[in-house]
Amino acid sequence: MFTRILLLAASVMLSAGAAHAADVDASAAEALAKKSGCLKCHAIDKKRDGPAFKETAAKYKGKSDGVDKVTKQITTNPKIKVDGVEETHDALKSKDAKEIRNVVDWILSR
Ligand code: HEC
Repeated sequence: MFTRILLLAASVMLSAGAAHAADVDASAAEALAKKSGCLKCHAIDKKRDGPAFKETAAKYKGKSDGVDKVTKQITTNPKIKVDGVEETHDALKSKDAKEIRNVVDWILSR
């Protein structure tokens, strides 16, 4: 009975879209973010030209569309404003869906 409650709790947490920190390869995510130039404009817990990843994680916490929104942001080159000037947001230097998802989960679990 107790195990069933635990399993139920775990599946509720997962279906809420919470990135499961244990599944994230943080060093691979950070390396790809660095290689892609993301860390020029983003830091984990400080605002630079772009929001801190902690802020993004907090913004999407408990929301089911976080993975979708962040994936679009870092794969489709949306328009952004940096100091009032329109620019194109960089995409990750990877086309591997697993590597991309790892970075998304990494950002959302900061
Ligand atoms: C030239 C500076 C710059 C670079 C380089 C950059 N970003 Fe951003 N990023 C921004 C700005 C500015 C915003 C805020 C855009 C907005 O609010 O419309 C942003 C927003 C984001 C968001 C928040 C999306 C949301 O829905 O809240 C994420 C996540 C993100 N960037 C990840 C990345 C990743 C990963 C990379 C590397 C592939 C990257 N950024 C490269 C400036 C940059």
